[in-house]
Amino acid sequence: MNYIYSKVSSKKNFFGNTDPFQLSEKFGTPLYIYNENILRKRCRDMKGLISYPKFTVNYSPKANSNIELLKIIRDEGLRIDAMSPGEIYINLLAGYRAEDIFYISNNVSEDELRYAIHAGVLISVDSVSQLETYGKINPGGKVAFRLNPGIGAGHHEKVRTAGQKTKFGIEMNSIPEVKRIIAAYNLRLTGINQHIGSLFMDGDAYLRSTTNILSVARQFDDLEFIDLGGGFGIPYQKQADQPRLDLKDLGNKLSDIIHAWIHEYGKEIEFKIEPGRYIVAESSILLGKVNAIKTNYKIKYIGTDLGFNVLIRPAMYDSHHDVEIYRQNDIPSWKEETVRIVGNICETGDIIAKDRKLPEILENDIIGVLDSGAYGYSMSSNYNNRLRPAEVLMEADGNHRLIRKRDTLEDLARNFIL
Ligand code: LLP
Repeated sequence: MNYIYSKVSSKKNFFGNTDPFQLSEKFGTPLYIYNENILRKRCRDMKGLISYPKFTVNYSPKANSNIELLKIIRDEGLRIDAMSPGEIYINLLAGYRAEDIFYISNNVSEDELRYAIHAGVLISVDSVSQLETYGKINPGGKVAFRLNPGIGAGHHEKVRTAGQKTKFGIEMNSIPEVKRIIAAYNLRLTGINQHIGSLFMDGDAYLRSTTNILSVARQFDDLEFIDLGGGFGIPYQKQADQPRLDLKDLGNKLSDIIHAWIHEYGKEIEFKIEPGRYIVAESSILLGKVNAIKTNYKIKYIGTDLGFNVLIRPAMYDSHHDVEIYRQNDIPSWKEETVRIVGNICETGDIIAKDRKLPEILENDIIGVLDSGAYGYSMSSNYNNRLRPAEVLMEADGNHRLIRKRDTLEDLARNFIL
């Protein structure tokens, strides 16, 4: 077994007591592999971000909601968000208590609000209109609202969720309206939350937006918490030694801001954050198989089973994921070449890694796509009637077990009225 090109996974002993070939033979490809030790480490990083006794971390399961991963994250002492009744349902199934779930709703129906109220889950509303709907359904109830602090961040405009060009949150100018509706329905505003966007590598915008949310929070007397949101980035270009987000520096600055604000507010309320990607992204390598290789008009294509139905981030946001190459025999590749690694979906945009200089790749090699744990499986689909992949956990002791079965052909027909 020759790890032709595997700097990152070898260093971390990612595959424990097994290797990518054994795993792909046993479970087939494409296949998501998760490493429990890395997942636990990232949970601990986030829990240690801020030195403040009432600091809590809510994992954002839209990044990955495999129930076994949710259980590990719960075991690490994190709480959890939800963005839909489905997320509430799965979170409860994973053993989270209703009071550990924070439902950050966006343009939801009355039925969805009722589902969350019934489940005993605290809701954050995303507009003045939804605050009023909530007030009608549950007068006198506890509620939070999502602020748009006017400052966004993120790796792509599609995932910048605050500022002037996004549907999210209540703008700072609408706070008087919020106050009016709270009074009209006798609501109890327990918290204010924000989420400015996904994947920032320096904390500047996060810190500025924190100052904004705190200036709004000051106007409400009886808050129980403030939630500063997620978005903490991870280095996707590890092969080029991209530096990590400096959590220590960000954490120190946040701690200073929070302590000063608490002093002024006069009450030690809770501070939350909502990381998704940071917790799970680096815990996974996606394995795929090289089925065909060809050159079309000077571009060399490496044809794999890693279609964008399996990992959509490169096709959707032009996102970069480093790739590794694993080979069963011991023949190394002596030359490097520039290749385009593509999948098996009927679109030209079905590219997983564009124009990368790599050691020569051969048919039957296994490709490992790094940092695929966040927004990988959770955004996968059955497009082209492809089967969504299986998922395997490398446990802390280096053994592995299947934590989600691959779809079957019958699954594709499950909801037809035949
Ligand atoms: N809180 C809220 C309200 C969110 O909408 C999100 C992500 C998070 C927290 C977690 O953000 P994170 O820490 O993971 O950045 N599919 C895109 C990312 C979409 C993020 C959506 N919201 C991607 O693959 O880059």
